[in-house]
Parts: sequence; C-alpha cells; structure tokens
Amino acid sequence: EVFFKMFEIVKREEMAGGTVILNEIAAPLIARKAKPGQFVIIKANEEGERIPLTMADTDPDKGTITIIYMVVGKSTALFKTLNVGDGYQDVIGPLGKATHLEKQGTVVCVGGGTGIAVLHPITRALKEIGNRVIGIIGARNRDLLILEDKMRSASNELHVCTDDGSYGRPGFVTEALKEILEKEDVRQVVAIGPVPMMKFVSGITAEYNVPTLVSLNPIMVDGTGMCGGCRVTVGGETRFACVDGPEFDGHKVDYDELMKRLQAYSEDERRCYNDFCR
Ligand code: FES
Repeated sequence: EVFFKMFEIVKREEMAGGTVILNEIAAPLIARKAKPGQFVIIKANEEGERIPLTMADTDPDKGTITIIYMVVGKSTALFKTLNVGDGYQDVIGPLGKATHLEKQGTVVCVGGGTGIAVLHPITRALKEIGNRVIGIIGARNRDLLILEDKMRSASNELHVCTDDGSYGRPGFVTEALKEILEKEDVRQVVAIGPVPMMKFVSGITAEYNVPTLVSLNPIMVDGTGMCGGCRVTVGGETRFACVDGPEFDGHKVDYDELMKRLQAYSEDERRCYNDFCR
C-alpha cells in the first residue's frame, strides 16, 4: 500500500493497551485556524473511509494537530498501522463550530472514554478564561483511562471514576457529578463521551437546571452540510452535527435516535474489521 506523505504523522502514541491511538499530524493551515471543539475528517488513502475526529490539541507554532481515536473498525485499524513518517492522504478541516467559551464561575467538565481527548482542550480553555473548572473523568477500568495527567493540569480539581472500581472512585461519572451539583453553584456542565453517558449526565443536570453542552459524534460523510448523514434531532428539529454542531444543548438532544443511527452499520463495521484483521 502506498501512502502519500501529505499529512505526515510526526508523533504516535498508544494508550489504553493499544486500543486508543494518538497521532500528531503535520497540518499547518488547520493548526493555525482550529479552535477547541472543532473537528477534522481524515482519510488514510484513496479508497479510504472518511472518519470525523474532533481535535484533541493543536500547536499553531509547530503546525500540528493531534487526534486521538479508538480502534473500532477497519478504517481505524488501518490508521493504527501508520507509523511516524507515514501520512494521511486527506485531512480536511477545521470543521464544525468552535465551543462557545464564557467566563461563568464554576463549571464542570465530564468526560468518558475517548471523549476525554475532546474534552481536554475545552477544559483548558475554560480555565484559561477564568472559570473554576471541576473535571470528572471516567472509564470502564483503570487500563482504559486516558489523559488523566493532562486533565488534572487543565482543571482546578479532578475526580477520576472507574466503573469497576479498579482506580479512583468506584462507579459512574454521574454519581460524582450529582454530589458536586448538590454542594456547588455550578453554572455550566460540558459532557463528552459515549452517548449513554451524555444522556444520563444531561438527565441529571436537567433536574438541577444547569445548562449542559454535549459534543455529538454521528456518522458523517462530507462534513459540510450536504449529505444529511450526520442529522440529529435537537429540540424536535433536525440539525446537522457537522455544520450546526458538533456541540448542542444536552437537554434537547434525542439520544435514543442518535444511538439507533450510530448502530445502523455496526454489523458491516464488524464484518469489514474481521476481514481486515484476517
Ligand atoms: Fe454530511 Fe453533515 S456529514 S451533512
């Protein structure tokens, strides 16, 4: 297979036992323009699938962007085979709207799984503009937890949870969040992670009347508002995550529909992945 070196990988790291990969990619024009919350669509080669990934970091001086993805299907398995010095054929972006950042007082940033990678630059930016930021991150177990150190320095206070209690506080991020909402005057919650996590977080913050921002990851094709593949229902209206989002009011998102749409191709994804691994 020939990979054009258009967007060269300058740094590569494996996390969570090799199931999560970090790539720092040379993409100077995107690095200069991108803001927290925005995403890119990347393609490894000519026939490659277009994969949308929210940027975990950007370095405008160095001219690089960082993406962190979980290996879930054929395309991400192919991405995983790329080493430093290899490149992606296409990196398109920055796409989507940037996070609306405001100084509000105490804000809570909740992240789960690879959502923590997306949450990190937003957390850092919220603290930089003067908010008191309480971070809560969670994973199924200790081995799957990523970016704890980065989240610790990006927030004023960090709570770590694991579902199985192998590290930090045992239980879901929602339980830690509830305790904080009980005793603190929280002005905003940002929740990024698996859809069920965002759904449950939004359910809790709705009870406490705390505005909540979520970042959605529907299936995307063009990323520019033309195909409709990324449509989500927010407040009873159809919105396109690629141009109207990826961030939306967490209290208005139809999460059940999003989950159903995300599962639409999971059979094919599994089949392609198995063929690829053979
Ligand atoms: Fe095609 Fe959003 S990805 S409209």
